Amino acid sequence: MPQDKVAINLESLGRAAEFSLLDGSQGVPAIDIGSLYKQLGVFTFDPGFMSTASCKSAITYIDGENGILLYRGYPIEQLAKQSSFLEVAYLLMNGELPGDDELLAFTDEINHHAMLHEALRSFFDGFHYDAHPMAMMVGVMGSLSAFYHSELNMEDPEHRRISAMRMLAKVPTIAAACYRHSVGWPFVYPRVDLGYCENFMNMMFSLPSQKFIGKDHYIDPVAVKALNILFILHADHEQNASTSTVRLASSTGANPYACVAAGISALWGPAHGGANEAVLSMLSEIGSVDRIPEFIAKAKDKNDPFRLMGFGHRVYKNFDPRATLIRETCHEVLEKYSDNDEPLFELALALEQYALKDEYFIEKKLYPNVDFYSGIIYKALKIPEEMFTVMFVIARTAGWVSHWLEMMAEPSHRIGRPRQIYTGYEKRDYIPTEER
Ligand code: CMC
Repeated sequence: MPQDKVAINLESLGRAAEFSLLDGSQGVPAIDIGSLYKQLGVFTFDPGFMSTASCKSAITYIDGENGILLYRGYPIEQLAKQSSFLEVAYLLMNGELPGDDELLAFTDEINHHAMLHEALRSFFDGFHYDAHPMAMMVGVMGSLSAFYHSELNMEDPEHRRISAMRMLAKVPTIAAACYRHSVGWPFVYPRVDLGYCENFMNMMFSLPSQKFIGKDHYIDPVAVKALNILFILHADHEQNASTSTVRLASSTGANPYACVAAGISALWGPAHGGANEAVLSMLSEIGSVDRIPEFIAKAKDKNDPFRLMGFGHRVYKNFDPRATLIRETCHEVLEKYSDNDEPLFELALALEQYALKDEYFIEKKLYPNVDFYSGIIYKALKIPEEMFTVMFVIARTAGWVSHWLEMMAEPSHRIGRPRQIYTGYEKRDYIPTEER
């Protein structure tokens, strides 16, 4: 069958060229414009990368129109219901589900790397007690590069694999330490007898003075199940802003811990991973069910910057499959963890129903995304609001390191270097201060 070609004819410049279509194993084909500038002397302009594929990847597939999300080919629904976060992390990193022995070895290695270098503890002393935990996450993850740099040979796949494992293993320990620094509690060492999510809950909430963490927190199976599902749902999402940031930073050959710290920075924003924290701030601002119409009107007003946090998605235009799954968990958690008269949760559910029936939201295909529910679950589990995006970091580290491993294993990867359309002054001469 003849391959489709895309012809571009720049009549006024007298230049023409043909470009091939690139097909993946599924999904939308892309026009291979790598030689566009060489052949035609022009660039493409695509702010926000609305139509640009930046790489080839075999990790995650999203069909936004049909609400499909696959990790290495496995539907998110099956993984969320049947798998564990560590098994999913293994799958993302290695491409296949592990056998029993492989999962055991992987878990042992994660346990082995979960502790932090004692010298790293003193880094926390430099942060004020009220530093945002995301700020601490960026700093502490980045500073791991100071511990693991000189002996890291980026050309060696085993060195790269160990770096990835270290990040996945240490990220919950760092996250819990950020929280405990903010409340002035002693740091808790990771325990090998606990699963990944249980261990995190223990490092967050256990106290030396108490045998049990408290009835609401002590490694409750409902809480652990919810965390496991949330971590699986957040583990990867192909070329989102933070993953693209990790890839871009890594394309220079920079230290991987520093590159993941760059990803954490990108995740922090309210349009991305910061949305779950922003959902809760928004609910507090709305305050009561009777004020919902007022805020819906604000969200629809083009002259008002207010947006309904936790609604809409760049890729999912019909529904977010992660939101469908997490909605069930949300109701399960709320049943156990919130008193039935908890006004915040009532407000969230009322807002969800109101927006789902509103013409503007229906017409623009703005549905609740995963982070509308994740913040509500975390709140019910008594995880502080500033920690919500940190929870996302723990999960997404699995995706970031998988993309880093994939990219670094490519025989040739180029430094990422977009072009621009310059809109500034033409060349002009310097004027000494006294003449300005
Ligand atoms: N509230 C009100 N209006 C909205 C919203 C919203 N949450 N989201 C989009 N719109 C409107 C927007 O004003 C625009 O209207 P118009 O066509 O009249 O200009 C239209 O819908 C399309 O929006 P867009 O900004 O072009 O869409 P985008 O793909 O660039 O942005 C988004 C996607 C997620 C950044 C955006 O929907 C948003 O800001 N949502 C709130 C923040 C949020 O919940 N983010 C978490 C995303 S899920 C977690 C993750 O994967 O990172």
